[in-house]
Amino acid sequence: MAGVPPGKTYTPGLDFSGVTYTCPAKKAQSEADRAHEIIKEKLPLLHQINALLAVTFGDRPTFFIDGRGDEAKILESCDDEPDCRLNIKPEYIIQFYENKLEPRYGPASAFSRLPEPTEDVEQVKRDIEEFGYGLAKNVLSPEQVAIMRKAVVEQAAGERKAGIAQVDGGPDGPNQRLWTLINKGDDFLDLLNHPIIDEFIPWALGEHAIITTYTANIARPGNVPMQLHTDQVAVQPPIRDIAFGMNILFYLEDVTEKNGATRVYPGSHLGQIFTVEGSAPAEAPAGTALIVDSRIWHATGPNREEAGERPLILLFFMRSFIRQQENNFLSLRRSDVWPKLSDRHKRMLGFYTTGALGGVDGEVREGLFVEWKDGVGEMRAPNDRS
Ligand SMILES: [Fe+2]
Repeated sequence: MAGVPPGKTYTPGLDFSGVTYTCPAKKAQSEADRAHEIIKEKLPLLHQINALLAVTFGDRPTFFIDGRGDEAKILESCDDEPDCRLNIKPEYIIQFYENKLEPRYGPASAFSRLPEPTEDVEQVKRDIEEFGYGLAKNVLSPEQVAIMRKAVVEQAAGERKAGIAQVDGGPDGPNQRLWTLINKGDDFLDLLNHPIIDEFIPWALGEHAIITTYTANIARPGNVPMQLHTDQVAVQPPIRDIAFGMNILFYLEDVTEKNGATRVYPGSHLGQIFTVEGSAPAEAPAGTALIVDSRIWHATGPNREEAGERPLILLFFMRSFIRQQENNFLSLRRSDVWPKLSDRHKRMLGFYTTGALGGVDGEVREGLFVEWKDGVGEMRAPNDRS
């Protein structure tokens, strides 16, 4: 694909390695020029940022957009400390302008109420439709919270001890993320049997939705607020008429604004106008599942507690035709988990045909499983146990 040079050619006469069309340096220059033109065209609007912005296109010299006065200006240099630094590929500015990539946006409106934790799943569904998220209370009992919390905390400690901990949340990396939970303990396989999945995922995404990521996130004091984002960012050009994904976040701790509750922009799944005000912390007791439409703008909140940690499990499904973030087919081969997977697990992980996708050797009739036998993929009917 673009930017990756060809590997070895096997067939004499089919060596394309010497053929080029557009010179990369010329293309980069023309994109930078075009992005500058777009910024100039938009200058009459840019005083609205009311700030000094330093902009860098890759390795090109930084320039400044000074939006502090009534009329925004472009400056080649500026001695003032910028309010914000932006390093961006010029092609992204072009794609934003041409509506091929989605710049962030969210709601401006205020709501008279916001979702509250409830055991009424129909209310949670209404909340998801209206606000983009809902809070299903008591999905896990205190005993189940304790089991899952122990599984997450012990796994996290093990990864730290082994020097393979994946951290984020600022330069000191206070937050820890556990990836690919299917490989990290029977507790995590068992959680996939939870009926809350069956209640919400087919309702939102159809029968064949698959797990795109299954992770845990531990927010600890001292973390910096996460960048605002939607979980549907992989869908480009932006199509926001429907949700392509749904994330179920299992709370393993009472989640409060102070300990870093996920900040959500209510209603932003419907694409209202962006303001930086108006986010709400999705607070709820341990055992609650926060269920979010993947279009909603959100971020992990800062944990302002003195001590302690706030672990969550995030089970993220996307529609069957979206490529999974985690390549489960290969991740599972690093472990001995495959023999433990039930048909339910396999179906959730994408080892199942949809009628159009997911088969081996062209066989995609709906309702077949894909198995590994002797190191290769093979199709199996649901009732065939041979
Ligand atoms: Fe997210």
